[in-house]
Amino acid sequence: MAHFKLLVFATITLMASFSTSAEVLPAPQTTGGKPLMQVMSERKSSREYQENQSVSKQDLSNMLWAAWGVTHDGKRTVATAMNRQELSLYVITPTEVSRYNPEANTLTVVNTGDFRKYATLQDFAAVAPINIVMVVDTQKQSKPEFQGYTAGAASQNIYLYCAQAGLKTVVRAGYDKDNLPGILKLRDNERIIWVQTVGK
Ligand SMILES: Cc1cc2nc3c(=O)[nH]c(=O)nc-3n(C[C@H](O)[C@H](O)[C@H](O)COP(=O)(O)O)c2cc1C
Repeated sequence: MAHFKLLVFATITLMASFSTSAEVLPAPQTTGGKPLMQVMSERKSSREYQENQSVSKQDLSNMLWAAWGVTHDGKRTVATAMNRQELSLYVITPTEVSRYNPEANTLTVVNTGDFRKYATLQDFAAVAPINIVMVVDTQKQSKPEFQGYTAGAASQNIYLYCAQAGLKTVVRAGYDKDNLPGILKLRDNERIIWVQTVGK
């Protein structure tokens, strides 16, 4: 009986650890790449994406770091007013929705399934492999113009990373405003700014 109880306890513990486990991304490559001035001249929005063309985990790690990674003294790749660091990034793939944890360089699954159609009002984004939702914590930063600055800087960094990596991207204000917050399991103080599509 004691052995049985131990087995049940061990099984429950193991299941709990799986359900809360986070995927560790490859370490971001933070040196090298094309010259910055060339990359800026190549930045653009794209609205045609090949279906079934995945983005590598290395590219995903690199672009998330470019957008919102940790750099100096726990600060970020973009400036934030009063260092409030109010941004969160959610990654929507064909199979799940995950939250980016910059300090650990991990993705934690918050929902399972193909939710891409809720991240867009335009068909092309529903077949792209990656849609990154930018969310701000309005308790950390209440001023919309500061929230917009933070998300805008992160968005531009994704544009620049994509230009240098040969990937396509576009930032989009159009998404399902009724359903996407629930799919991301956002709290009342969290607000979606926009979604950025990435693919090939
Ligand atoms: C705040 C913002 C919202 C945007 N929303 C959309 C959108 O919903 N759909 C879309 O296809 N493009 C969207 N765009 C992309 C712009 O249309 C695009 O940046 C503009 O046409 C200039 O093209 P370029 O990025 O290639 O220079 C948005 C851009 C910004 C900055």
